[in-house]
Amino acid sequence: GLPTRVRIHEVGARDGLQNEKVTVPTQVKAEFVRRLAGTGLTTIEATSFVHPKWVPQLADAEQLFPLVSGLPVELPVLVPNERGLDRALALGARRVAVFASATESFAKANLNRTVDEALAMFEPVVERAKADGDGVHVRGYLSMCFGDPWEGAVPVPQVVRVCRALLDMGCDELSLGDTIGVATPGHVLQLLAALNEEHVPTSVLGVHFHDTYGQALANTLAALQHGVTTVDASAGGLGGCPFAKSATGNLATEDLVWMLQGLGIDTGVDLGRLVATSAWMAGQLGRPSPSRTVRALSHE
Ligand code: HMG
Ligand code: MG
Repeated sequence: GLPTRVRIHEVGARDGLQNEKVTVPTQVKAEFVRRLAGTGLTTIEATSFVHPKWVPQLADAEQLFPLVSGLPVELPVLVPNERGLDRALALGARRVAVFASATESFAKANLNRTVDEALAMFEPVVERAKADGDGVHVRGYLSMCFGDPWEGAVPVPQVVRVCRALLDMGCDELSLGDTIGVATPGHVLQLLAALNEEHVPTSVLGVHFHDTYGQALANTLAALQHGVTTVDASAGGLGGCPFAKSATGNLATEDLVWMLQGLGIDTGVDLGRLVATSAWMAGQLGRPSPSRTVRALSHE
C-alpha cells in the first residue's frame, strides 16, 4: 500500500543551484529559500560547507545561512569533513549531511578520496555531530546507487555495503542517490529489498532521483509502494552534479506534489505557491523551468 503522508526533502537551493555556471547573488538564494519555506515545505537543504574552489556557486554559505536560519523549517547543509562541520556548527546548523559514493570513480571525482577513505573522513564528522548538544541530525547521502558514468551499472551488494557503513557510523537517515538518473523501477525495488535483507529498515531510507531519462516519478512511486516516505526533490527540477558527467536536474518538486495530490497523499505543500516560486527562480536564472508541472501551471 501507499503511505498517507510523504516528507519532501527539498534540495533546490543546494543540488539545484550547485551546478549553475553564473553566480546567483546571495540575496536571491535567501529569497528562494524564504519563498520555498512559504510553500509549506518543512525540510529545505540550504547550502554546502564544502571547499569553495570545488563548488564556487556555494562559496557564500557563511553569508547565506544566517539570512535563512530564523525560518521555522529544517535547514540541512552538506558537510564533507570536519572543516565543513566546524563551519556549519559555528553558524548554528542542527542538521548536516555527509555524502558518500558507492563507486570508486565518483568518490575520487567528488571527494578526492577512495570510497573507504571518504567513509573514514565522515566518521569523526558523524561522531562529533551526534555528540554536539542534544545531537545534530545526520543524513548520509549515497551517490551512484544505480549507475555510474564511468563504471556503468553498479552492483547492488556494493551499494548495500556503503549504506551499512553509513548507518553503523551513526547516520540517522540515508538518501539513496541516482546521481545520473539512470535507474528504473525494478532496479529501485531490487535495491530496497536487498537493504531490507541486510536489516536496513525502510523507515531510515529516502530516495533521491535525478530525471535524466524521465524515470524519476516512476522510480519514486515504486519506492513509495515499498514503504519509503522521504523523497528528495528540487523546485522547478533544477540541479545536477558538476562532478558527474551527464547528471541533469532532480525530480521536480512540483511534478512530485502533483502526483502525490492525485494519490491523496498529504505533503503540506501549496502547489500554486511552489509553482510561483519556481517560475520566479527561472526568471532569475534566465531560462524556463524544465518541470512539466511548472510549465503547465504557470501563466506568464
Ligand atoms: P581536497 O582537495 O582533498 O581537500 O578536497 P583537503 O582535505 O586535502 O584540504 C585541502 C584544503 O582545503 C585545506 O586548506 C583545507 O583546509 C581546505 P589548506 O590547509 O590547504 O589551506 N578545506 C576546506 N575549506 C573549506 N571548507 C571545507 C574544506 N575542506 C577542506 N569543507 C574536499 C576534499 C572534500 C574538501 C573536496 O573534494 C570538496 O569540497 N568536495 C565537495 C564536492 C561537492 O560538493 N559535490 C557536490 C555535492 S554531492 C552531490 O551533489 C550528490 C548528491 O546530490 C546525491 C546524488 O545526487 O547522488 C548529494
Ligand atoms: Mg543530487
